[in-house]
Order: sequence, then C-alpha cells, then structure tokens
Amino acid sequence: MSSQPSSQPGPKPNSFAARDAAYHLHGYTNALKTEKEGGFVVVRGDGPFVYDENDKEYLDGLSGLWCAALGFGKEQRIIDAAVRQMENLPYYHTFSQKAPAVTVELAERLVELASLAAPMSKAYFCNSGSEANDTAIKMIWYFNNALGRPEKKKIIARVKGYHGVTVGSGSLTGLPLVHKDFDLPIKNVFHTDCPHYYRFGKAGESEEDFATRMAESLEALIQREGPDTIAAMFAEPVMGAGGVLTPPKTYWEKIQKVLKKHDILLVADEVICGFMRTGNQWGSQTFGMKPDIMTMAKQLSAAQMPIAAVLISQRVYEGLRDHSGKLGSWAHGITYSGHPVAAAVALETQKIYAERKILDHVRAISPVFLAELKSFADHPLVGEVRGVGLIGALELVKDKKTHESFDASLGVGPNLIRIAHDHGVILRPVADSICFCPPLICTEGQIREMFKRFRAALAETQEWLKSQLVAA
Ligand SMILES: Cc1ncc(COP(=O)(O)O)c(C=O)c1O
Repeated sequence: MSSQPSSQPGPKPNSFAARDAAYHLHGYTNALKTEKEGGFVVVRGDGPFVYDENDKEYLDGLSGLWCAALGFGKEQRIIDAAVRQMENLPYYHTFSQKAPAVTVELAERLVELASLAAPMSKAYFCNSGSEANDTAIKMIWYFNNALGRPEKKKIIARVKGYHGVTVGSGSLTGLPLVHKDFDLPIKNVFHTDCPHYYRFGKAGESEEDFATRMAESLEALIQREGPDTIAAMFAEPVMGAGGVLTPPKTYWEKIQKVLKKHDILLVADEVICGFMRTGNQWGSQTFGMKPDIMTMAKQLSAAQMPIAAVLISQRVYEGLRDHSGKLGSWAHGITYSGHPVAAAVALETQKIYAERKILDHVRAISPVFLAELKSFADHPLVGEVRGVGLIGALELVKDKKTHESFDASLGVGPNLIRIAHDHGVILRPVADSICFCPPLICTEGQIREMFKRFRAALAETQEWLKSQLVAA
C-alpha cells in the first residue's frame, strides 16, 4: 500500500497547478514532486480561510507561515494606507541620514512597544526575518570590534532553533536539512541543547532539573570554547519551526544567568512570537527574557507587506554609533530597508491591533484554543500537547508510555497533514508534531471548526495507520 493515502492525479492542463509545476520553484519543497503533481495554488482569501482555483475552502491553521495575524481577507484600512503612501512617496531610502517620514514613525512605535519586554533604543529595518537575523549577527560582530574585543565573535543558537535561511541566519538554524549540502553552518556558530523536556528529559528528572541541566550544558559549551570568544546567543521564546517547543519552567531564568555572567548578548528572535502570538505583545514578556537585541517580522505587518526589524539596546547602539563615527560609516544598508509602503502597512497594522484590541481577543480566545488542543491528550496517537497563547502542537507517538516515535519512513505527520488538507484545514508537520498557529482574529467558532476538521483527519489517519501496521 502506498504511504500516501491521498494521491493526487496530477494537475489539469493549463490550470494554475500545472503552470506552477512548469514555471515556479518553491521554497522548502520537493521539486520532483511538484513537477509531477503541481502546487497548491491559492486564489483568494477571507478571514482565516483561503480558496483554491476550484473554490474549495481551507481554514489556514498556520496563518500561512505563522504570520497572517489578520487572516487573508481584505483589510480596507491597510489598502488605504498603502495607496496613500504610494501616492505621497512610493519610495525613499534610509542611507546617508535620509529616511521616509513613515519609517521614522514606525521606528518610534516599535521602540515604544519593545519597552514592554526590555528597553530598546533604535530600530533598523529589513525585509525578512532571515535578513534581520543576519543583520543582528553583523551588528554583534561590529559591536565587539568597537569594544576592542575582536576575539568575542562566536554565536550560540540551539538545536531545532529556526532563524532563517540566509548564510548567517541559516547557520543559526539548528535543523540538519537547512545545512545539508548548502555548506552550512559557517564557522563560529554553535548549537546548544534543545530544551524540549518531553523528548530530552531523563527518567525521573523534573522540568526544573531539566532546565538546570540545559543551563549547565550551555555553561560547559561556553567553557569549552572560552567565555571571551562567545558574543551572543540567539533564541526564539517559543521554538516555532522546531515543532512549537515551549521552554521548560525556570529555563530562561537559568540560561540568562549564564549569559550575564559571561557578558554574552541575548538576541530574542521574536519573528513568530512577536505581536501577541503567545498572549503578550512579546514572547520575551511571556517567558521573562530580557534581550539586548530583538528581531521581528511576520506579524509586524500581519504579513501584508514584507518588512522586518532589528531593535537594539542603548549599549549596543552606543557601540555601533561610536565605531561608525570612527570608521566614517556604519557600512550596512539595504535598498529597501524601511521601505515607506511596507512601513505604512506595518504602522497601520499596529494601529489596527491596538484599536481592535487584538491582544484582549487573543487572551480571550487562547483558553478555547488550548482546551481544544488538550482535548486530544487522551488520544492513543498523541504523546504530548503543548501550547501557549495561540500557538501549539500535538506530538504523535507510537507509544504514549515510552514516548517512542513512529518510524520516520511511515511519514505519519506528513500524511496526517495531507488528509487534513483534504478535510479543509491547512496545518504544518514537523516530523510527527502537528503545529497550530491560527490567525489572531479567529473567532471561537473558527477555532472549534479548525479542530473539528483536524479531528476528522486524525480519525482517518488512525485507520490508515492501522492498515500500515498490519501490512508491515
Ligand atoms: C523564528 C524565526 N526566525 C526567523 C525566520 C526567518 O524569517 P523569513 O522567512 O522572513 O526570512 C523565521 C521564519 O519562519 C522564524 O520562524
């Protein structure tokens, strides 16, 4: 029997799916498979729903790529803000002491918002999360050169962390497939342990003891490499693409103590968690992180325009400032950094979040979301349920008692996702963890609908799995 229960017959000639197969190279996709099957082409959206070219409806339970906070429907205010900006000033840059006014407004707003987590001094704009993290790496290197510490350059990230795909950020990402045959990671990047208690906690070890072990392991890595050579640690408050891994109790308190002791900067990668995803403005607030640098993208503009930002503390800024004075320039800049149309969209998005009280809504709807997730805890295939705010995951296992995973070749998670797709709900597998990250504007009814469709898909997967295990 095929390991793929929902086989696609191949795209209809001249359909978007067929043209997609002919002309388009996707990211994170098996290109051979796309050539044969074509892609899933979306033609319109409405709230949390998207529609394919046959007008079939799907509830996108991952907000696209963890980003479409306001869903996929028409937002007239955002359209108006973009049009107004294009009429007034469709482009200006941020080199050589110049800036579009709207970009300045956005910088001011972000510095203000960031202070909820940690005092930040300046915002620098980029076009993607990857670019923001690459920029942060360069800032950190420049900062340590400014301070006369040329040896303090190594960067620590985490196994299963995700920070992007560019040469620097892809090196930080702790997923083997992002490195394999791309000749990554670059030198001077190290990955410390993944703090996933369910998977890596030892028998009899408490969550707090596990967190202590994680901090000890970080300390050991720092000692091995030499504390004077370690510049920074990058970390997501909740590890998204690693499978929605929430930190164990006391983890951040213990990790930050180690970083502080060795004067190692903490970069909070808020690309997924930022802008209310975890039930606070910032993931850093939810978990007590006090970063020196914050990177953000995605929900910054509700994904309606590409824009990202790096926010830096006064201390980091002063290093950059003084060194740029000495060298004559902070010689880093991107043509579209702080692009006025993207900035106008982001600024309007932020106003909409505030006026529609989206944070209150997330807090009101999160208990429904988490209760729906938890309702799967007793399911025979579900090993762990994890989540916070409006982000969560169910980890499917072969044996609930021992946490043993299914043989990866069975593709249980990916198959469940394919079946869920047929049931009209789009989700993301990370191996056998099924990730949920619905648009922040979802109503209670839509959250329940997402899980209703998922439940039907899980039941079908269970039947398919029985047949697989009998056949094996
Ligand atoms: C935490 C995190 N950081 C960085 C990135 C990279 O962002 P981008 O895809 O915009 O380059 C992502 C993307 O998913 C992410 O989840």
